[in-house]
Amino acid sequence: MEQTTIVAFCLFLFYITTCPQVHSAISSDHRHRLGQGQHHHDRSVKLFVFGDSYADTGNSGKVATGSWKAPYGITFPGKPAGRFSDGRVLTDYIASFLGIRSPVPYKWRKSVKKSKLVNGINFAYGGTGVFQTLISAPNMTTQIDFFQQLLEEKLYTKSDLDSSIALISLAGNDYAAYFLKTGNQSPGKDLAAVTTSIVNQLVVNIKRINDLGVRKIGVTAIEPMGCLPGVTSIFTSYQNCSESLNSASRFHNQILHQKVEELKNVTTTKSTFVILDLYNAFLSAIQQQKLHQAGNSTTLENPLKPCCVGVSSEYSCGSVDERSGAAKYTVCSNPERSMFWDKVHPSQNGWRAVYSAIKSSLHQLVI
Ligand SMILES: *[C@@H]1O[C@H](CO)[C@@H](O)[C@H](O)[C@H]1NC(C)=O
Ligand SMILES: *[C@@H]1O[C@H](CO)[C@@H](O)[C@H](O)[C@H]1NC(C)=O
Ligand SMILES: *[C@@H]1O[C@H](CO)[C@@H](O)[C@H](O)[C@H]1NC(C)=O
Ligand SMILES: *[C@@H]1O[C@H](CO)[C@@H](O)[C@H](O)[C@H]1NC(C)=O
Repeated sequence: MEQTTIVAFCLFLFYITTCPQVHSAISSDHRHRLGQGQHHHDRSVKLFVFGDSYADTGNSGKVATGSWKAPYGITFPGKPAGRFSDGRVLTDYIASFLGIRSPVPYKWRKSVKKSKLVNGINFAYGGTGVFQTLISAPNMTTQIDFFQQLLEEKLYTKSDLDSSIALISLAGNDYAAYFLKTGNQSPGKDLAAVTTSIVNQLVVNIKRINDLGVRKIGVTAIEPMGCLPGVTSIFTSYQNCSESLNSASRFHNQILHQKVEELKNVTTTKSTFVILDLYNAFLSAIQQQKLHQAGNSTTLENPLKPCCVGVSSEYSCGSVDERSGAAKYTVCSNPERSMFWDKVHPSQNGWRAVYSAIKSSLHQLVI
C-alpha cells in the first residue's frame, strides 16, 4: 500500500487533472420482451440508485468527465451517453433483472415526461463516495437528500416505495480520496479506522433510505481493488492483482457484512438487505475470461488489461491532444470480449459477467 496505491486510486477520480498520470443494461431484446409495450404505470417496481460511476447513467457533468467523451458508449448506445463504460453498467443490468427500463438520471428528472419516472430515478454520480471526495459532485448523503425532497414533493407514494428497490454502489472513491489527502506517505496504518468510518457512514445511509420507506436494498461489496487495471498496470503490466489492495477490499467487505447483520437485527420493519458481492463476482468474471480465451490461442488476451488505454502514461481513455484534437488513446479490436473498459471500470461485457455472478443474490431482493 505505498505509492502504487495512491496513483492507482487516483484513477477513480480520473478527471482530476492534479492526479499523477491522469490527464485528463441489459441486452436490448431482453428489455423489449420484459418492458416495452406494457404499461405498468404506478404498479411497476421502481429502482432508486445511489452511489458512484459503477452505477451512474448520466448524472456526471458533461464538461468534466470522460463518460461524455468518445469512445465511451461505443457499444451502447453507440455514442458517449454518460456511462463510464463502452456500454451498459451495473444499474442497467439490475433494471433488466427487474423487468424495467433503466431509471432516469436525476439530472433529467424535469426534462423528461413524468411517465418516464415510473421506473425510479438514478441519483448516482461518478467519482463520489459516502464522504466528500476530491470532486464537488453530490456525495451519497446529498443524493439521499435529493431523494427525500422528491418524496416530500409527493412524486412517489408510500405504496410506490413499498414495492421499490434501492441499489447502492460504493466502489472506492472514499479510499482514493483518503490516500490522496494523506499524501504519498504510507497510508496503511490508519486503514482499519478509515474502513470502519466509511462502512459506518454507508450503513447510516442504508438505514436512512430504509427509513424513507424503501424496504428492499441491495448494496455492493467492494470489488477487488487490487485487480483494477489502474493498479495492475503499474508494476506487473496487467499480469497480477495487488494482494495488499485486495485484502483492503476483503477487510471492507467483512466489516460491511458485520454491520449489515447488526442493522438487520435492529430493523423492525419487514425489510430486506442484500449485499451484492462484487468482490467474488469480479474475480469469477476475470477467471471466466481467462478460461474463455485459453480455448482460443489465436486471440489470447489478458483479462486484466483494459480495452481502452492512453497512448502513453500521461494519457487515458478519452484523452485528446489539446491542439490538434487527435485521439490519444487506443481501443481494443473487440470491446465485447474485454473485462475492463478503462483503468477502473468494467466494460459492458465485464458487467454482464459480473451480473451473472450476482444474479442469485438479486433473487433475494424480489421475493
Ligand atoms: C456531503 O456533502 C455535503 C455538502 O457538501 C456536506 O455538507 C456533508 O458533510 C457531506 N456528508 C458527508 C457524510 O461527508
Ligand atoms: C505474478 O504472479 C505469478 C504467480 O504468483 C508469479 O510467478 C509472477 O512472478 C508474478 N508476476 C509479476 C510480474 O509480478
Ligand atoms: C442479533 O441479535 C441476537 C439476539 O439479540 C444476538 O444474539 C446476535 O448476536 C445479534 N447479531 C448481531 C450481528 O448483532
Ligand atoms: C473462441 O472465440 C469465439 C469467438 O469469439 C467464441 O465464440 C468461442 O466460444 C471461443 N472458443 C472457446 C473454446 O472459448
